[in-house]
Amino acid sequence: MHVTALIVAAGSGSRMGDGLPKQYRPLGGKSVLAHAVDALAAHPRIGSVCVVIGKGQEQLAETALSGRDVGSLIVGGAERADSVRAGLAAIQGDAVLVHDAARPFCPPSVVDRLLIALGDEVAAVPTLPVADTLAIAGADLGEPVDRSSLIRVQTPQAFRLPSLIDAYSRWSGPSPTDESTVVRGAGFKVALVDGDPALEKLTTAADFARAEQMLTARLT
Ligand code: CTP
Ligand code: MG
Repeated sequence: MHVTALIVAAGSGSRMGDGLPKQYRPLGGKSVLAHAVDALAAHPRIGSVCVVIGKGQEQLAETALSGRDVGSLIVGGAERADSVRAGLAAIQGDAVLVHDAARPFCPPSVVDRLLIALGDEVAAVPTLPVADTLAIAGADLGEPVDRSSLIRVQTPQAFRLPSLIDAYSRWSGPSPTDESTVVRGAGFKVALVDGDPALEKLTTAADFARAEQMLTARLT
């Protein structure tokens, strides 16, 4: 089974602020995007890596990815799902792992679990339980929400490539924030595997600071 990693890096990082899109920010000597690419490229079951970048970000991406075998860079679109669609149109193979460039640390054990699950299934995603108390937001605290019925869904997410392409071709809802939503919408079963706290997405400046601390702790 040829597995391609499709890494979407075409966002503007508006919630992180600071001008430079977060995937190009340096983290421990290399960019966030380079971390995400290296983590997946190092896995023995991943045969190729495709990176989707923003229009006009060619120079930034080439610098960030210098020396890495990622083939040609694909230009993404306005929403994350547009970027994923652009990537899907450019790749081949039996299976795809769709991953956010904003998640720099992907433990190989997560990829192992996803690909084992994909042996029998069309789709598999990493999930974590919700630890905090949850409630409906409003002017004051609204109704509590039963967290035992909720899970957090991370990337990378693993799919049989033809099934994901088929699911996207039939999707007519609002722009989805991940592919499990699309595949489930098409009626496919999505298998769950254990996620990992290291896969946390870098969304805000505080997330970035935590990732820097985590790297420093790893190196000392
Ligand atoms: N992404 C993308 N194309 C877009 C929007 C997002 O490829 N049009 C990618 C981002 O680069 C990121 C991942 O999708 O790796 C998850 O998106 P998110 O965390 O929302 O990143 P941004 O959209 O860049 O950030 P923000 O929403 O704060 O602007
Ligand atoms: Mg976004």
